[in-house]
Amino acid sequence: MTTATVIRMLGRGLCIIIPLLFVSVNCFPVDPPAGGANLRNNKGIAENVASVETNYKGHWELFSPNSGVSAMHLILLPTTNNVLMFDATIWKVSKLKLPGPPCRKVEDTPGEEDCFAHSVLMDFETAAVKPLRLHYDTWCSSGSLDVNGRLVSTGGYNNGSDTVRILDICPDCEWKEYPGTLGNGRWYATQVTLGDGRFMVFGGRDFPTYEFVPPEGKRNAKNQVTPFKFLEETHDPVENNLYPYIYLNTDGNLFVFANNRSIILDPITNKIVYEFPVLPNGARNYPASGCSCMLPIVLQPDEKRPVIPTEVLVCGGAPHDAFTLTDLNRPKVFPPANKDCARIDINNRGNPNWKIMNMPTARILGDAVVLPTGDVLLVNGAMSGSAGWDDARDPNMAPVLYRVASAGPEFTELAPTTIARMYHSTSAVLPDGKILIAGSNTNPTYMDVALFPTEVRVEKFSPHYFDPALDHFRTDILFEKSDSKVRYGKRFEVQVGGGDPNLDMKKLQVNIYYPPFTTHGISMNQRLITLGIYDVKKGVAPNTSVISLQAPPNGNIAPPGYYMLYVVYNGVPCRRAMWVQFKK
Ligand SMILES: *[C@@H]1O[C@H](CO)[C@@H](O)[C@H](O)[C@H]1NC(C)=O
Ligand SMILES: *[C@@H]1O[C@H](CO)[C@@H](O)[C@H](O)[C@H]1NC(C)=O
Ligand SMILES: *[C@@H]1O[C@H](CO)[C@@H](O)[C@H](O)[C@H]1NC(C)=O
Repeated sequence: MTTATVIRMLGRGLCIIIPLLFVSVNCFPVDPPAGGANLRNNKGIAENVASVETNYKGHWELFSPNSGVSAMHLILLPTTNNVLMFDATIWKVSKLKLPGPPCRKVEDTPGEEDCFAHSVLMDFETAAVKPLRLHYDTWCSSGSLDVNGRLVSTGGYNNGSDTVRILDICPDCEWKEYPGTLGNGRWYATQVTLGDGRFMVFGGRDFPTYEFVPPEGKRNAKNQVTPFKFLEETHDPVENNLYPYIYLNTDGNLFVFANNRSIILDPITNKIVYEFPVLPNGARNYPASGCSCMLPIVLQPDEKRPVIPTEVLVCGGAPHDAFTLTDLNRPKVFPPANKDCARIDINNRGNPNWKIMNMPTARILGDAVVLPTGDVLLVNGAMSGSAGWDDARDPNMAPVLYRVASAGPEFTELAPTTIARMYHSTSAVLPDGKILIAGSNTNPTYMDVALFPTEVRVEKFSPHYFDPALDHFRTDILFEKSDSKVRYGKRFEVQVGGGDPNLDMKKLQVNIYYPPFTTHGISMNQRLITLGIYDVKKGVAPNTSVISLQAPPNGNIAPPGYYMLYVVYNGVPCRRAMWVQFKK
């Protein structure tokens, strides 16, 4: 038997497990909710999600032997077939030359030119690569998408550190660069999108401050930055608080995690309105780089709750002195990375506490990828050492699935890759539900011969839900019959074919995913929201269904912009997500 598959309808459910059948959906709650209401939304927190359990461990494929540029930073660009990858201009080299003049004038060296590309668009279906010119250094920069799907990138190194860059999504668009825009240099900073669509950028080396990103063409004065004591306080001798994890809470405030502390910040009054218990056992932010994500926000139809529950996950990391031992010591010592993974309800003002779990393996320099199902994939990284050049060892080849709503085993190790993805590796969720894996460069230039060579190979990982036995659950969204621009709070429709001739609402989930800007183990603004389903009706065409949904009530729940909408049936995502723009 190759595929013993069990579907669990979670939430204190009683499940009948039929190992010889492909799938069992005979799971009923002990106390059926009145009127056959949607099970998932009973608790309103990501606890009642239908999750597929299969012994399928996933599948790796080499997607491209050469992306031209090692993907230190990676983002999927809405409504296109492109992912954007870039690293840094400082190397003055990559695996791809610019198509022709003009070359970049090298800073600080009059007369020197750099004719290599440092930024590329890669077609995620054909692997075709297109170089984009870049002048101001993007090394360790930050970014996020705006309401129209443009990338607004901030910071970086040297002349790039106060630069804002914009990349539109038109076919021939090039970077627009605005040096001198930010009030402080932002090197290893975190960008976050607020509910009204504005961006803030936090921290970065030597600047424990934050500021709003000004509108295109405007500049911030030095006094338009706000000092942020929390970043001073969480600064270890070796930092451990760069690239802080920041999430927009459903009430419009910001959850900020740096080093081992976390707070709720009101970004308008600049007040810290709450502080959570310290997360013990080491540091979690650069260079003790763990990984983190916000867990699914689960909405109800006709959403009216005053507080929408929200949880955050922080996994892995390293001892406070990891960077000292690896980077500042000779010989280098590589301490084991953290094996723990912690979860907290960030709206609990009574007695919130970290729920501490153990991952099957230790992980530093990894990514916490929120899958289209709402579960989390911990992928990439190493099992010892620190962030920094040549500072990590023991690549962690096997991704780990964390089941957010699991009543059974929380963590499952999936199939390993054969390519080490160390410092400067990245990932992106694709519309078909596969995960693009790229980057890894532990060397301060491009090196083919090294313990961990500069990686330009790109892989795709197909997670557990690609079990061939579950293929018949993959629905097809009928794009032309579905709404793709929706105002907050409004009712809208998505039509699907396949899955089942009559889709069973209890096994159905519709999730929207905001594509994050991923670098250094942080996926800025990554967000998955489970929408409230009003009803499911038979479509006019045979074997089609019309799903009636409520758009997120406001921008604090889902900042304005383009989301990938996935119909998930029996825990299996549709064949291809649809881009839907939500705004006021
Ligand atoms: C970058 O900064 C250097 C000083 O560090 C300055 O001389 C140079 O003109 C700047 N380059 C650009 C393109 O602004
Ligand atoms: C939190 O981090 C600080 C260093 O930034 C350290 O002194 C403190 O002991 C840590 N707290 C816990 C509970 O680990
Ligand atoms: C509808 O689905 C059923 C069961 O999967 C299948 O037998 C039938 O051929 C489908 N009809 C059409 C028109 O696709």
